Amino acid sequence: MAAMSAHPPQQIPRRQWLATCAGAALLPFAQASAAQRDITLRFSHVVTEDTPKGRAASRFKALVEARSSGRITVQVFPDGQLYGDHDEMQALQLGAVDMVAPSLSKFGRIGLPEFELFDLPFLFEDLSEVRRVTLGALGQRLFNGLKRQGLVGLGFFDNGFKQMSANRPLLAPTDFAGLRMRVQASRVIADQMRALGARPVTLAFSETRRALATGVVDGTENPVSNFWTQGMHQVQSDLSLTNHGYLGYAVVTNQRFWEHLQADDRELINQALQEALEDARQIADVQNEAALAALRRSNTTRIHRLSAGQRVRLQQAVLPVHQALARRIGPDWFQALQDALAQPSA
Ligand code: SIN
Repeated sequence: MAAMSAHPPQQIPRRQWLATCAGAALLPFAQASAAQRDITLRFSHVVTEDTPKGRAASRFKALVEARSSGRITVQVFPDGQLYGDHDEMQALQLGAVDMVAPSLSKFGRIGLPEFELFDLPFLFEDLSEVRRVTLGALGQRLFNGLKRQGLVGLGFFDNGFKQMSANRPLLAPTDFAGLRMRVQASRVIADQMRALGARPVTLAFSETRRALATGVVDGTENPVSNFWTQGMHQVQSDLSLTNHGYLGYAVVTNQRFWEHLQADDRELINQALQEALEDARQIADVQNEAALAALRRSNTTRIHRLSAGQRVRLQQAVLPVHQALARRIGPDWFQALQDALAQPSA
């Protein structure tokens, strides 16, 4: 939509033009200019479009553009095209992009180690337990902390539960001995790999497949949808269905960008996002199941299931990881976590 011209257009009588300008001058500046403003919102992420996050971003774009009749455009940059996960948060803080959806494991390194609660191995039994945290008071408290970094948290959503991969089955702590395992930049995940006897190697998501292919690392962990869509099955012979940890995301925006939006644009964008995230929460399990079925059909990778006894032994091995995080962020966060998990399901 055209912004107001600086000169009176010839076809409007001067008296009418002046009256329009005088009326506009009474409006607060932001409202007068924003009322007609076209908006382009840049949304950057690091996974492919055919993942829970990719699907959520596309759905968000479709909803915003339809409801604003195209006045608000959402440009989605998937697969680390614009920024990788080492620099997307900084790009957001600098205003180079307007929205990102990093995994919760990536907030520790910007000074918010309490987000690493989500990385604790064997913490959640299922996604309904995750929701008690993300959609409740603890989720809000985590988002309040984002203000310290000039960010606003708009919503949580899931990818799902992570599995371990390497060129051998990973079913017991002894299987991990000496392996270099790629991890996200999370101290909890690094500690988890050490507790299992492996060496953690922090790498950006976009570098992971190549690092596996060239032997820079021996294995990694991810939900099956990420494993499959990155083609990691072509370079890993074994996937062990450990379901040992959760991978989820927070959609965050830059506080300056958010506060400068006109209230009804902010409402439209937020509403569309909440609907896209609700859809994403519904499809995460389905996407991972579909990826697992595709993986089975591809016949590239052996798939292993854990026995109950093997699961208990892995759980015991990683117990010190919980204690180490409690020391780092304080018992108060753990109490809040326990309270959230004790809530009845919504
Ligand atoms: C993501 O799903 O955004 C990436 C996860 C990873 O870095 O392993």
